[in-house]
Amino acid sequence: MSYSSSYTLCILICLFSYSALAQGDGTISVGSSLTAADKAATSWYSPSGDFAFGFRNVEDQFLLAIWYDKIPDKTIVWYVNDGTTVPAGSKVQLTVDRGLVLSDSRGNGIWTSKSFSGTASNAAFNDTGNFRIVGSDTTTLWDTFSNPTDTLLPTQTMDVNGELYSRKTETNFTRGRFQLRLLDNGNLVLNTRNILTNFPYRSYYESNTSDKNPSNQGYQVKFNESGYLYILRRNGDIFELTTNKAIPSSGYYHRATLTYDGILVQYYHLKIFTGTTGWTSVWQEPVNICTTIRELRGGGACGLNSICKSDGSRKDCECPETYSLLDPNDKQGGCKPNFTQNCDRNDSSEDLYDFVESPGTDWLLSAYEQMDPISEPECKRLCLIDCFCVAAYYKGNSCWKKKLPLVNGRKDNSVKGKTYLKFSKANLPPELHPGKPIDYKKKKNRTLILVGSVLLGSSVFVNLILIVFGCFGFLYIYHKKSINIQPVNNIVETNVCRFTNNELVEATNGFKEEVGRGSFGIVYKGLIHMSSTVIVAVKKIDRLVQDGAEEFKTEVNAIAQTHHKNLVRLIGFCEEEEHRLLVYEYMVNGTLANLIFGCAKPSWAQRKHIALGIARGLVYLHEECNTQIIHCDIKPQNILLDEYYNARISDFGLAKLLMLNQSRTKTGIRGTKGYVAPEWFRNTPITAKVDVYSFGVLLLEIICCRRSVENIEFGDEAILTDWVWDCFQDGRMFDLIEKNNKDMLSDWDKVKRFVMVGIWCIQEDPSSRPTTRRALLMLEGVADIPYPPCPSPLSWTST
Ligand SMILES: *[C@@H]1O[C@H](CO)[C@@H](O)[C@H](O)[C@H]1NC(C)=O
Ligand SMILES: *[C@@H]1O[C@H](CO)[C@@H](O)[C@H](O)[C@H]1NC(C)=O
Ligand SMILES: *[C@@H]1O[C@H](CO)[C@@H](O)[C@H](O)[C@H]1NC(C)=O
Repeated sequence: MSYSSSYTLCILICLFSYSALAQGDGTISVGSSLTAADKAATSWYSPSGDFAFGFRNVEDQFLLAIWYDKIPDKTIVWYVNDGTTVPAGSKVQLTVDRGLVLSDSRGNGIWTSKSFSGTASNAAFNDTGNFRIVGSDTTTLWDTFSNPTDTLLPTQTMDVNGELYSRKTETNFTRGRFQLRLLDNGNLVLNTRNILTNFPYRSYYESNTSDKNPSNQGYQVKFNESGYLYILRRNGDIFELTTNKAIPSSGYYHRATLTYDGILVQYYHLKIFTGTTGWTSVWQEPVNICTTIRELRGGGACGLNSICKSDGSRKDCECPETYSLLDPNDKQGGCKPNFTQNCDRNDSSEDLYDFVESPGTDWLLSAYEQMDPISEPECKRLCLIDCFCVAAYYKGNSCWKKKLPLVNGRKDNSVKGKTYLKFSKANLPPELHPGKPIDYKKKKNRTLILVGSVLLGSSVFVNLILIVFGCFGFLYIYHKKSINIQPVNNIVETNVCRFTNNELVEATNGFKEEVGRGSFGIVYKGLIHMSSTVIVAVKKIDRLVQDGAEEFKTEVNAIAQTHHKNLVRLIGFCEEEEHRLLVYEYMVNGTLANLIFGCAKPSWAQRKHIALGIARGLVYLHEECNTQIIHCDIKPQNILLDEYYNARISDFGLAKLLMLNQSRTKTGIRGTKGYVAPEWFRNTPITAKVDVYSFGVLLLEIICCRRSVENIEFGDEAILTDWVWDCFQDGRMFDLIEKNNKDMLSDWDKVKRFVMVGIWCIQEDPSSRPTTRRALLMLEGVADIPYPPCPSPLSWTST
């Protein structure tokens, strides 16, 4: 169970698979076809096996593509159909008259390589990665090098009017906003474009190889065999793009890709798989895309109303505080404000709006007024009372008013002024709360405004509306009954309701029906009458550290701001004297533990669906919500199932409450035996990787439908993680699943994929574990999975 033996095994497997693959000479005869299928679909390979041509699984669909087949990343370098994926059962065939024809399972044509004159006699796929359709006289009728997507490879050229398109996101290959073009005048440019009409906006990089004298103009982009990219001028001179850089030559792959974030990057990669090193970047244009794009049209580097940050390599897009992503799956898709300003409103602006300072941030080109000279308070005041103004930028004695949409947002050291971003107090994120108590009685008729919401996705939106109106109704009814609603100081101002203890006693019928026990206390079923009657789970928190009131509020705030379909939603809370209760939506199908450890095992499809759901929920908690939430206690008892058997993570955001001021002694260890990551026992920092570890254990439990730790009678199989590794290493993986589970046997590649992801997640060294996002991509089949090493190569034993 050491690194070396697993390594040898890996090498053996690799050698074996190469011998199986490398038999072809890269010639594909007319009539040959490939079908997109979940099971290991066959591909066509270049003679050395360096490149493969075939269907790649992308989020349950398939992309007809060419990729580097020998490296773990299996980096895709070319694809058809403008990156649109096709369903399983689709087929590509090499035909005489139309070259490659891609059709769906019913035979309807989806895409074809362009019609050409002449007839194809075969196709040749050689080790440069070029797939050529060859005519009877050995001429090239069509080839992938002449129809590039987002990548250029050595020996490939791009002529005048040639273009590359970025993909939309890392995993969505459809055409994005960025474009690389070699113009008529010989200039190589990068520009954003209009997605519908392909209208090019102002370029943000130019090679300056146009010239009045035609013979000095550039006319071809060349990527030569030794990995140098340059522009060839008509007079034979060259303009080097790969300048002053020593490029390692033999033994390396090279590529130049227009990345999804709009940067042209040249990379190299060692051909022999060494396990860790991936693609190394040699150069890129532009160096800082955030400060380079200056264009009012087309959304800039990160989309409208967003902020771009760059550390001189790739860029990072984020929404300003009080804004949220338009499309949660597309960080470059722009942001929307969580409020609208209404110019008709009679209320005074000071009551409704305030500013948050956003240091080092500016939106160039969004100013519509400049005032000079003026004082800073006056600058803010004038923006506050102006219903067009959403941000004020103050520098020197000047004040700029900015309007929506905010464009070219950037956060950068070079921004010296101050930006004040307007927000509606109704949508106040708690950390920005100025501490001004809101008196319900005084502003009775504005109650609705107080119940703000962060809008994310339409179905969530609908739910929120329901909850918001529900809360409102609730408050309203109580108002009518003239039950005294206390002046609410520092109320959690999101879309959660605040209940009194008595209301919850009533709702749960005196805490009668217990539905579960967690690490924080007992959970009861209850009924809440809002606009409709809602079944809820009321969690009584009885193990709160003392003086935890502030922390409780902070944590509830954080939880209240989460919205994801794989999380259990918080409806309300109670914080009154010693009472701390949380009110959640009720999950009818109970816990995952009951499902997978019960008598009737869930189907493989259900297991996959649940595992992916948990992974998505975790990615959200770790990377996508306002403040990162580390769960610390991922286990099947904390995964609930809604009416559609979607996995819903519960008990998140509570870990900090119990961790306060505790040193990491045994008592400080959060989590549950069997699921806790080794670093809890060590003096290493606790990061989101502890959840990755627990997720790995959970994933293996879901696959095998058994507990991570069983009785001693299980012998060698008692500890699930050890057993899985043994079976995996010995090639006995069939032992892991129930005998005759046809679903799993017929989807064996995916089962293997899931097991391998599980093994990667339970690596003892946190830095070897993937991030949750990486784990998700691997589960989804978007990222390829290197052969995992032994999870505990060192001698850590649980004592
Ligand atoms: C690939 O095919 C092209 C075009 O026929 C040829 O010029 C080149 O030498 C071939 N390269 C390799 C590595 O086989
Ligand atoms: C990729 O993006 C396009 C364009 O927005 C969208 O229509 C398509 O559904 C996306 N594909 C995937 C697999 O998400
Ligand atoms: C590729 O281009 C570089 C830079 O122009 C040059 O030094 C090198 O000799 C070229 N290699 C080949 C094989 O043409």
